Amino acid sequence: MDKISSIGVLTSGGDAPGMNAAIRAVVRTAIFYGLKPIGIRKGYAGLIHGDVFEFKARDVSDIMQRGGTVLQTARCMEFKTKPGLEKAIDSAKYFGVDGLVVIGGDGSFRGARDLSSLGLPTIGIPGTIDNDIPYTEYTIGFDTAINTAKDAIDKIRDTATSHERCNIIEVMGHHSGQIAINVAIATGAEACFVPERPMPEMPSIIDAILEGKKRNKKHFIIVLAEGVGGAAEMAAHIEQTTGMETKVNTLGYMQRGGSPTVRDRCMASEMGAKAVELLKDGIGNRLVGIKDDRVYDIDIFEALEIQQQVRDDLIDLAIMLSI
Ligand code: F6P
Repeated sequence: MDKISSIGVLTSGGDAPGMNAAIRAVVRTAIFYGLKPIGIRKGYAGLIHGDVFEFKARDVSDIMQRGGTVLQTARCMEFKTKPGLEKAIDSAKYFGVDGLVVIGGDGSFRGARDLSSLGLPTIGIPGTIDNDIPYTEYTIGFDTAINTAKDAIDKIRDTATSHERCNIIEVMGHHSGQIAINVAIATGAEACFVPERPMPEMPSIIDAILEGKKRNKKHFIIVLAEGVGGAAEMAAHIEQTTGMETKVNTLGYMQRGGSPTVRDRCMASEMGAKAVELLKDGIGNRLVGIKDDRVYDIDIFEALEIQQQVRDDLIDLAIMLSI
């Protein structure tokens, strides 16, 4: 790989709290090593259309505590086409982007892999609230999102108890139940449904609610991953069958915003610095991630082949602890 003198950075896909800390780390680490950091706005679309600028150290002051991404983000269909990809490569050459850091989810990494194949050394940093990228134990934004969901469910629980209601709370996660499982344990939910595990038969859910009532339980909190769906139908069925008033809350985009937690800021800072150090050392085509709680890097092609291991045993834990 040729020596690198400038590094582009972009955020792609859904935003996640902590992306700004990663951008800051990329920019300042690059400057520390005498490299020129180049900001690319609105993900791959900005790369294709030349929406780029030189980042200075002070441009990333006061951004770490903010949610969202100062570079903005997009899901770019044009980039998924061959001409779009070629335009991105030409544009990177034209604007002197020697190496690229992509902060995003696994969809964004497939783009990073394609750029790498066409000769642009690219490093990926996992940024998505879903924590659903198999090669890494952690993705930037997950901790903030589960804490946001936890706060919301704690509040819903207060009112659920007062009214002796069942509340179904739908959390984000795309096709993954990681957010749902962790939040269910942290909030003492009575049930948790995720896409990775077959949905239990409705009668068993009804039995659990009726049994809970007998044990003098004052509410029944169900955490439902968005990938399962069917919240409204489930609520109607529970209400009809048990007589327990049942409400649905979809937490939605609030889980994607807000000031990042310490964990998200620290992980993002470490991974941002690591990405730049790899490129500086002439190493491209890697993804940075967390393994055994430490930052590591892995070949981009190999990483994208790894299958998700789901800790769905934690669902049983949530249920056991909610008696
Ligand atoms: O990947 C993050 C995420 O928030 C998912 O949990 C959700 O399914 C999706 O993005 C929503 O995407 P969009 O911003 O395109 O509506």
